[in-house]
Amino acid sequence: MTKKSLEPTSETIHLTGYQIHIGSCLDRLNHLIQNNAPSKVIVLADHHTEESCLTVLKQGGLTYDSSIVIAAGEKHKSLSTCEKIWQRLFDLKADRHSLLINLGGGVIGDMGGFCASTYMRGISFIQVPTTLLSQVDASIGGKLGIDFYGLKNSIGLFKDPLSVLVDPGFLATLPAKELRSGYAEVVKHGLIRDRDLWEKITQVNDWSNQPWQKVIHQSLLVKKDVVAEDPLEKSIRKILNFGHTIGHAIESVMIDIERPILHGEAVAAGMIAEAFLSHRHGTLTSEDLATITTYLLSVYGQLPIQELDFEKLIRKMGHDKKNIGSAINFTFLDSIGSSSINHTATIEQIRESIDYYSSL
Ligand SMILES: NC(=O)c1ccc[n+]([C@@H]2O[C@H](COP(=O)([O-])OP(=O)(O)OC[C@H]3O[C@@H](n4cnc5c(N)ncnc54)[C@H](O)[C@@H]3O)[C@@H](O)[C@H]2O)c1
Repeated sequence: MTKKSLEPTSETIHLTGYQIHIGSCLDRLNHLIQNNAPSKVIVLADHHTEESCLTVLKQGGLTYDSSIVIAAGEKHKSLSTCEKIWQRLFDLKADRHSLLINLGGGVIGDMGGFCASTYMRGISFIQVPTTLLSQVDASIGGKLGIDFYGLKNSIGLFKDPLSVLVDPGFLATLPAKELRSGYAEVVKHGLIRDRDLWEKITQVNDWSNQPWQKVIHQSLLVKKDVVAEDPLEKSIRKILNFGHTIGHAIESVMIDIERPILHGEAVAAGMIAEAFLSHRHGTLTSEDLATITTYLLSVYGQLPIQELDFEKLIRKMGHDKKNIGSAINFTFLDSIGSSSINHTATIEQIRESIDYYSSL
């Protein structure tokens, strides 16, 4: 990264099997390449991260052999893009000792990790997340995959990277709406487990002007603790799903009707609806519900979800991977900073939550 965009210090978070480094990534990346001596180093980027991030790393002296550049955006997180990536890996003569560097947001990280883990039964990969969303969330926890059959992340696997290098300097070129989208996961981390994080971020008047290195670090610690406790999402890891049962359904339906919205925008709406369900269930107080609703609306505004086909939303929720049998599974907030898993809600209550959101 350029000197201007470099954050002054670096932090390391340890997980079983790999580490997350927060700070300038270039030297560390070169060091990892040197130490692991892969047969080939291939960078996977999309058109935006090629221009904004790979160019800078290249100028800084990143040592790599080739790059694979794909079109940007969620609609390309698909099996057909994977085929192109696998084909390019074969054309580049990548072997089992090759290394893939996933340079991009959650789409590149999820899909690149998936392609690396399945190519020749698995090659090493490093996650270099370049959006706020992927820096605080998608790049850690080992979940990899693609969208399939109109369902988000429905094909994939769990596999850890060699390392995760989080360089907040990359956020300098990220469009504001993408920064805002990623911020929803920071808010979620505060709501489910860290009241102090919630209070810090909500006390800043201008959400887009945060001390990013500190915020990313604190937010990652929430996810790291949860993932370390339950790497394969058998139990407590489901708390990370808060806002996502309804949020993913909204995101998928909006993609289907060709009115795509950003992941974080859908999750923000999902968090309001699911905070309502938590209140309805008797856990969250009406004061906390009002505080959460007011804050999220002030940052994200309101989506026209009352215009969406409710039956379709319910069908999408019915396919959520966290469901057990036919019941739709929810994480509820017990208060701001505390949550619990494996709750259910009736279709009528879910409809009420959508009505609550739409009436704001
Ligand atoms: N694996 C997980 O645990 C997990 C968790 C949360 C979300 N996700 C997934 O993450 C994806 C969303 O990730 P995202 O929001 O990062 O989307 P994204 O990867 O589509 O990136 C958003 C946009 O920003 C551009 N971009 C990326 N970095 C940039 C930079 N530094 N400068 C300029 N432009 C840049 C990209 O090209 C793209 O157009 C979804 O597919 C979601 O399912 C995965």
